[in-house]
Amino acid sequence: DWTMGAYREAKIADIRAQVGDGRVICGLSGGVDSSVAAILIHEAIGDQLTCVFVDHGLLRLNEREQVETLFRDHYNIPLVVVDAEERFMKGLEGVTDPEAKRKFIGGEFIGVFEEEAKKLGGADFLAQGTLYPDVIESVSFTGGPSVTIKSHHNVGGLPERMNMELVEPLRELFKDEVRELGRELGLNDQFVGRHPFPGPGLAIRIPGEVTKERCDILRKADAIYLDEIRKAGLYDAIWQAFAVLLPVRTVGVMGDYRTYDSVCALRAVTSVDGMTADVYPFDAGFLTNCATRIVNEVKGVNRVVYDYTSKPPGTIEWE
Ligand code: XMP
Repeated sequence: DWTMGAYREAKIADIRAQVGDGRVICGLSGGVDSSVAAILIHEAIGDQLTCVFVDHGLLRLNEREQVETLFRDHYNIPLVVVDAEERFMKGLEGVTDPEAKRKFIGGEFIGVFEEEAKKLGGADFLAQGTLYPDVIESVSFTGGPSVTIKSHHNVGGLPERMNMELVEPLRELFKDEVRELGRELGLNDQFVGRHPFPGPGLAIRIPGEVTKERCDILRKADAIYLDEIRKAGLYDAIWQAFAVLLPVRTVGVMGDYRTYDSVCALRAVTSVDGMTADVYPFDAGFLTNCATRIVNEVKGVNRVVYDYTSKPPGTIEWE
């Protein structure tokens, strides 16, 4: 019968068989999926694996530091951190279409990897934390409808020129199974319980043009929202909670002054696998408190709204 312990052993054998004595690069996104993939692969092949964490400037507050601590200090996994913020911000200038953002970010990621792979003296394999829902939402089945809902940046094949084969040990798993595997690999509950975070990061939570300034505003609002959720003891009851910075300015009043600033939307959903989702029913007092704190503490935001759309018909992310 099937256990996560047996799955882990089977995958380790698969990885060893696939990789041989080749070199593997794993792209870390800061999320649970790529972290679990990396730790599993490291267990299989040790220092034949190098992790590359691209700081594209689209991360949550303190996320880079958390990844560095976990991988370098705790697991002792070789890790390269690439500071690519400027490059991503430059490329995102003037880009407002959601699919164009995703395509640019996915493509740029591959470009950064290619460069890092070269610097590391080449690698034969690229590891990714692709999950089963990523596979079925992005790829149409033979004979099925050929509709791409969203092009997930971590799926979709690598350009031939990279000459690297994919290692995707989580391809058959749903999110809850990845968390179980993470625990099996020694990750603590707090880490495996982290809410999912999309590869394109904050870019798909900033409808319209993405700038460093807007990322900074969103990071602050998001951190306050998550802080309140943790303080209320609700973090683990929620599948995903995050703030979205809207490209809409509205009028407000602060003391004796008129303000004309951005609207921030808050989203929180429950879900089993991300394929469908229900809105998390916060009580009004909780949301009022979040709104007050965000407007008071985040310069550039003067109005906060809550998203009451379930999936379907909405998606979890706004883009
Ligand atoms: P949607 O917005 O499609 O999201 O309802 C479903 C789940 O997938 C996450 N998501 C992504 N994850 N790369 C990822 O690794 C992506 O490009 C991506 N887009 C969405 C989303 O956060 C939610 O958990």
